Amino acid sequence: MSQIESCFNLEDFRQRAKKYLPRMVFDYMDGGADDEVTLQRNRDSFPKFQLMPRALRNVENIDLSTTVLGQKVDLPVLISPTGQTRMFHHTGEGAVARAAAKAGTIYSLSSVSSTSIEDTAKITDSAKWFQIYVWRDREVVREFMARCRESGYHALCLTVDLPVHGNRERDLHSGLNFPLSLTAKMVADVLRHPRWLYNYITNPNIEIANMVGSTHAHIANESNLLGYIAKQFDPSVDWDDVAWMINEWNGPFLIKGIVNPEDAKRAVDVGADGIIISNHGGRQLDYMPPTIEVLQDIVQAVSGRAEILLDGGVRRGTDVIKALALGATAVMIGRPYLYALAAGGEAGVDRMFELLREEISRDMALLGCTKISDLTPEFIHRP
Ligand SMILES: Cc1cc2nc3c(=O)[nH]c(=O)nc-3n(C[C@H](O)[C@H](O)[C@H](O)COP(=O)(O)O)c2cc1C
Repeated sequence: MSQIESCFNLEDFRQRAKKYLPRMVFDYMDGGADDEVTLQRNRDSFPKFQLMPRALRNVENIDLSTTVLGQKVDLPVLISPTGQTRMFHHTGEGAVARAAAKAGTIYSLSSVSSTSIEDTAKITDSAKWFQIYVWRDREVVREFMARCRESGYHALCLTVDLPVHGNRERDLHSGLNFPLSLTAKMVADVLRHPRWLYNYITNPNIEIANMVGSTHAHIANESNLLGYIAKQFDPSVDWDDVAWMINEWNGPFLIKGIVNPEDAKRAVDVGADGIIISNHGGRQLDYMPPTIEVLQDIVQAVSGRAEILLDGGVRRGTDVIKALALGATAVMIGRPYLYALAAGGEAGVDRMFELLREEISRDMALLGCTKISDLTPEFIHRP
């Protein structure tokens, strides 16, 4: 049995990833902010919601397809954006985008990806979103939007939970830097992971590809690039900037990083078509509430005026079902596909989608549901 065939759930991929990756890279992916309370609670909150099945409902044919912002997906699990994916496996964003296309779902590319907007678009012509920031340099923002439009990205997804960087102490301890370059402090760690090291050395440098390919970004060399990007995160961004961006983009638009129902209402008022309830996987403000716990309040606040997605701690078919039953259109995942990618490249991500599909189908049948629209709050039991 191959390494990925012996993975039977998403935690199995995590264990495989831990073996393949140098500790500092694994910690960057796996870790969260401060005491990692939100990171942990994202997971711990799903068990608070129990599933109340209905019996004898003919569940012979299960259909997991649904529609997200007008696009049909075969599976209600989408890919959340993660930066610098080639750090976790040399095949990077391309491998994940291909696997998502095969699974019939939507891929979201990060602004700080290691593969560019254009190169990712060339890999597959199936549905893709681009995750954007309101950079301090608005010309670069305009340029990113134009590049996305030209490359056929269906939607923009603005991340709003990162006015400044979260405090990720695992990275401070390990001395990890971006874009990744090996330092003396890392030598012992990387030598213990020769397969990763071989792939790292024998493949092109990992870059912040969209900035390197930018005609407006003022960067002369790599050290300049890092300083430039650090300065681009603009803590003065407010709702007026969001309204500006929605107007400039003039297409499907989501806001990612909302946990407060009042912000959800405001997002709809400024014209967002979708809200991604997210605490950045516990990587930004610690003690933000777990996403599944704020879902119902946000669904109520938005009352059907925008689609609601959720990420953070989704690891099981039952997690997906709970979120959908409580009113999410679909869920998104971050770390799980990175674990699977590190564990087995594109084949790993294929296997992850296959396992999720099997889990969700089986759980729907056990619950007494055959299609996504069957999932309603009556199936959720909170004692
Ligand atoms: C390694 C890593 C990099 C990430 N990079 C980004 C990013 O560039 N932009 C963004 O909006 N979110 C980023 N995120 C957050 C994810 O999009 C997502 O919100 C989070 O991972 C969901 O939680 P989960 O990992 O428990 O599924 C990143 C997350 C991880 C783990």
